[in-house]
Amino acid sequence: MSKVVMHCHDLCRTFVEGALEVNVLRDLEISIHAGESVAIVGASGSGKSTLLHLLAGLDRPDAGIIEIDGESINQMGDRSLARLRNRHMGFVYQMHHLLPEFTALENVAIPKMIGGASREQAEEAAMVLLERLGLKERATHRPGELSGGERQRVAVCRALVMNPDVVLADEPTGNLDPETAQDVFQLMREVNAEFGVALVLVTHDKGLAFSMQTGYQLLEGKVVKEWGDGVGASFDG
Ligand SMILES: Nc1ncnc2c1ncn2[C@@H]1O[C@H](COP(=O)(O)OP(=O)(O)OP(=O)(O)O)[C@@H](O)[C@H]1O
Ligand SMILES: [Mg+2]
Repeated sequence: MSKVVMHCHDLCRTFVEGALEVNVLRDLEISIHAGESVAIVGASGSGKSTLLHLLAGLDRPDAGIIEIDGESINQMGDRSLARLRNRHMGFVYQMHHLLPEFTALENVAIPKMIGGASREQAEEAAMVLLERLGLKERATHRPGELSGGERQRVAVCRALVMNPDVVLADEPTGNLDPETAQDVFQLMREVNAEFGVALVLVTHDKGLAFSMQTGYQLLEGKVVKEWGDGVGASFDG
């Protein structure tokens, strides 16, 4: 059985809006295994982004335990958490969130420099990924000079530059036309298979979701497994 890279249980998150309490996540449990590809689907407002933010340590739960690589992050201070996130996780959002004043190469290199690498090492690693994702000719362009699909591919490179155990992607292709979305998604799947990076994908696109090994639906604050036996399943459809 492959290693569990991310696990949470009894996870609760409630938002208070005036007099209204919204129990978005209620005793949720999920495990992500090394190299696994996971889709999380569910209605708008069901809590998918909330779950991803908690797993990433970008938000704190009201109750429950979150373990990254076997280590509980609940009691971790912000600095340790930032370090752990930098080492183990990559993110791709619906909006690319690239830094506008930096080139594609610099945007991809920055997490690596934050992780302690020299500028030279970081840019070398960044260039390898940009080439791999067909962006060699775009390395010196700023985000404003790139197409939507190119920006999202740069964002995928940035998510991968630290060789993370897991990439969390929240509607990564939501702003792209269907064809470009398919290209970006295909690259993410290749990276998942090739580098053994676990991929957790939130998407409204059923076609994309079904090409992941495991699928969960977020329903009434919990995840319900819809397909896949999780570990080691290979996708051949
Ligand atoms: N910071 C916040 N403060 C108050 N309520 C919030 C906050 N973040 C999320 N919510 C509420 O929690 C619920 C779940 O939101 P979330 O963004 O996780 O849904 P989602 O499944 O990602 O939806 P979508 O598919 O539209 O992106 C929603 O009702 C939302 O209004
Ligand atoms: Mg969302």
